[in-house]
Amino acid sequence: MNINFFKPSVWQEEINAVVEVMKSWMIVEWAEVRKLENNFNNFITDWKYFPICVTSWTTALDLALKAIDIKETDDVIVPDFTFIATANAVKFQNANVIFADVSKKTYNITLEEIKRVITPKTKAIIVVHLFGSPIEEIKEIAEYCKKNGIKLIEDCAQCHGATIHNQKAWSFWDISCFSFYATKNMWTAEWGITLFKDEKDYKKAKLIYNHGQSEKYYHTTLWYNFRMTNIQAAIWNVQLSRLNDFNNSRIENAKRYNLILKKQSILQLPTIEDNKINVFHQYTVLVKENSPISRKEIQEKLSEKWIPTAIHYPIPVHKQPYYKELGYPENICPNTNYLAENIFSLPIYPWLTKEEIEYVANSLVEIVK
Ligand SMILES: Cc1ncc(COP(=O)(O)O)c(C=O)c1O
Repeated sequence: MNINFFKPSVWQEEINAVVEVMKSWMIVEWAEVRKLENNFNNFITDWKYFPICVTSWTTALDLALKAIDIKETDDVIVPDFTFIATANAVKFQNANVIFADVSKKTYNITLEEIKRVITPKTKAIIVVHLFGSPIEEIKEIAEYCKKNGIKLIEDCAQCHGATIHNQKAWSFWDISCFSFYATKNMWTAEWGITLFKDEKDYKKAKLIYNHGQSEKYYHTTLWYNFRMTNIQAAIWNVQLSRLNDFNNSRIENAKRYNLILKKQSILQLPTIEDNKINVFHQYTVLVKENSPISRKEIQEKLSEKWIPTAIHYPIPVHKQPYYKELGYPENICPNTNYLAENIFSLPIYPWLTKEEIEYVANSLVEIVK
């Protein structure tokens, strides 16, 4: 059996939606984008938020940081175990990135770790609901930020549809940033959303995101073009109607993996708990320290059976060449170092068949038992 690590869903409905936009000639930011903003607010439902559609997650965060006035004198806390974009957008504002470690069990940031690294200059904290699993202490972290006058930004690139304590993973405090890159739980190829809870922040961002234009051809500030197109919004509007089905399939796949792999004592598996909906952007396992077989050997043996795996993420952000050159010491986040050396992800996309999941899981059992 030859398995893909990921296959995007491009169905006739998405193709039709794009063709309709092309035929209308309204290909730039127009009606489909406005429809998307409405759909997004309906999807969120809990209370009123303010979305701005932009060109990627990275520009979404860029806009967010600009709107809340992050400057070179500010510290911003970022988890070390994430995709590098989370930290880079902070550096683009010339602010100081403070790396926080994550839990070895959940792979997410913790309040204890935030308290360990916080400084008097900390103006914002960016938390990541990694691999689709909502942060366990997000409520406590939100309360802590509120009490201390710190802006909380949620990196929701991987958690579309995730909930914790019946609350959407993106709804805890000030701003959330979404990615709709091709591999995400719902996609538009590239592109993102900045979602503001505070209307004041939103209004400021709205003034900025389109060349700092407050009225047609009247530009009050220096900024880029972050506009999205009607073509991408049309795809998004179709994808949103399928998100729950996509997520349910991912969850089913994860349950199937867990069932087959649960007796393998050298593997730490992701947990499925009643108090949260983990939407399994990735299904990531950890090879424990007592394992007689290394991660590399396991991946090689799976690869011999045409089963691809991936490592998210092989290098902690603070160890990436750019951050190393800035002088970050090597061992500031030991758990992240440990995870980077020992985790790997199995294919989890929604249209993997039951037979494919069983083939992957049973092959892994054969290798590690
Ligand atoms: C956790 C996380 N943050 C940020 C990003 C950056 O998203 P984009 O590529 O849309 O800028 C990604 C995308 O891969 C991500 O997974």
